[in-house]
Amino acid sequence: MNKALRKAVIAGNWKMNKNRAEAKALIAEMTPLVKDAGCEAVICVPYTNLETALEATRGTNIHVGAENCHWAASGAFTGEISAPMLAEMGVEYVIIGHSERRQYFGETDATVNKRMRAALDAGLRVILCVGELLDQRESGITQEIVSMQTKVALGGVTEEELKRVIIAYEPVWAIGTGKTATAEQANEVNHGIRTVVEELYGKKAADGLTIQYGGSMNAANAEELTAQPDVDGGLIGGASLKAPDFAAIVRAASR
Ligand code: 13P
Repeated sequence: MNKALRKAVIAGNWKMNKNRAEAKALIAEMTPLVKDAGCEAVICVPYTNLETALEATRGTNIHVGAENCHWAASGAFTGEISAPMLAEMGVEYVIIGHSERRQYFGETDATVNKRMRAALDAGLRVILCVGELLDQRESGITQEIVSMQTKVALGGVTEEELKRVIIAYEPVWAIGTGKTATAEQANEVNHGIRTVVEELYGKKAADGLTIQYGGSMNAANAEELTAQPDVDGGLIGGASLKAPDFAAIVRAASR
């Protein structure tokens, strides 16, 4: 068991929620509740809330991330935001390859890899999302799917750069459905991801990699999930929009 070698990270993914006033209020409510966290606390917010979040979290232990970035540094890509733009603002994290991007916006493993490259080049920390669809789980190919997503996304990433990568295992059938993977299912897939990373980078890198679980994680199930040997925190959707719930998950993952 090498849990002590890596940090637990609880990251909120606000998705397309909260206007500026609501963001300010949520962060103000959350700040005192997570100030003694024994794990890293991150909030990934809509682009329109980044400035607000950076301002409101200054001097606190809450880190700020974006929910996506483009693969080019600049150019004719109407409506997109680049990794250097995020880095220049002071944003620290970016989520790449969320299943909602894959499902609704044509994200592929190849574009995930390009965005990963851009984010790392800009100095950002990446939360890479992988996960299987329900029919893939039912067909018994979960590990193959997640391994492939992981390998393609990490193509060209060096061992040094891997230190700025977190992987979030998010079974698509568990996202926003209230249907959580069991602690055993989460741990099994996370362990499989760690094995793939060990094959690619060696044991030391694999032992040091933070691998989260995401998908209907909440205040009630966070403790059991994050206690698993290969689950190093979580990526939280719905429950990250309520300060007491997010804080309870942070407490559950603190060690
Ligand atoms: P829920 O926690 O709402 O299921 O969302 C999980 C998720 O997609 C986090 O990225």
